[in-house]
Amino acid sequence: MRVDVLTIFPDYLAPLRLSLIGRAIDEGRIDVRVHDLRDWTTDRHRTVDDSPYGGGAGMLMRPEPWGAALDAVLGEEPDVRVVVPTPSGEPFTQALAHELAAQPRLVFVCGRYEGIDQRVLDEVGERARVTEVSLGDYVLNGGEVAVLVVVEAVARLVPGVIGNATSLVHESFADGLLEGPAYTKPSVWRERAVPDVLLSGHHGQIARWQRDEALRRTSARRPDLVAALVPATLDRRDLEVLEACGWRPTADGARLERSAAPVAD
Ligand code: ADE
Repeated sequence: MRVDVLTIFPDYLAPLRLSLIGRAIDEGRIDVRVHDLRDWTTDRHRTVDDSPYGGGAGMLMRPEPWGAALDAVLGEEPDVRVVVPTPSGEPFTQALAHELAAQPRLVFVCGRYEGIDQRVLDEVGERARVTEVSLGDYVLNGGEVAVLVVVEAVARLVPGVIGNATSLVHESFADGLLEGPAYTKPSVWRERAVPDVLLSGHHGQIARWQRDEALRRTSARRPDLVAALVPATLDRRDLEVLEACGWRPTADGARLERSAAPVAD
C-alpha cells in the first residue's frame, strides 16, 4: 500500500516511522510519502491561507496550492482514495479502517485553520473517491494528528504488518463489542486476585466468561453498540447477560432495547 500525506507540517508525521508502522515501512509493506504543501506555492511568502468570502472568523486554505499538489501526487493513477480528516466528516470506524486497508493508494489531505476551500474537494472528487472522516465530536487544530490515528488503524490491518493475525479477531469492535478486562502475572497483586476461571484451563468456560465481560462492559460504556446488535446473532447466554444489564429484544425481535435499570452490574 502507498500512503501520501499532504500537510504544511511534515514533521508532525515523523512518528509514523516508529514502532509497528515503522517496521512495515522498512519491510516495504507500506510506502509512506509525506509532502510539504508549501512546495506547491508560487509566491515569496509561500502563502497557503486567506480570509473567507462572506466573512467569519479565522482563515481558510486557498485552492491553488492544493490543486497543484493533488495534481502532482494523484497523477493519472486510478484507484486512489483521498481521505480528508475534518470534524464535519463521517465517523471513522473499524469498518472504515478495513475498507481503507484494502485500497492500493491512500492520499491524506491535512487541513489547517478553518478548513480548505470547498472547490478543492469538489474538483478532486471528480477524479478520485474522496472520504471526509471525523475522529469524534471535538475539534483538533488540524488533520495531522487525525492522520496519525487513521494510518495506524489502517496499517495494522494490512496483511503482514501485525505478526499475530488472530489478535485482530478478538479485539474491540471486531464483533461489535468492546473487549473485556485482561490479566497477566502475578496471579495475585496487592491482594487482588485474577478471576479464578482464567486460571482454570477450561477453554470453553474462559471464552464464555470473556464474552460475558465484553457484553457487560459494552452495555455500561457503549449502549449504542448494544442497540446495534441483532438478537438472532446472539446465543441464549448472551441474551441472559444482556437482560441482567437491562436489555430485552424488541417486540419484532430485530433489535434490543432498554427494559429497566440494570439488574446487575
Ligand atoms: N480535524 C480537526 N478536528 C478533527 C476531528 N475531530 N477529526 C478529524 N479531523 C479533524
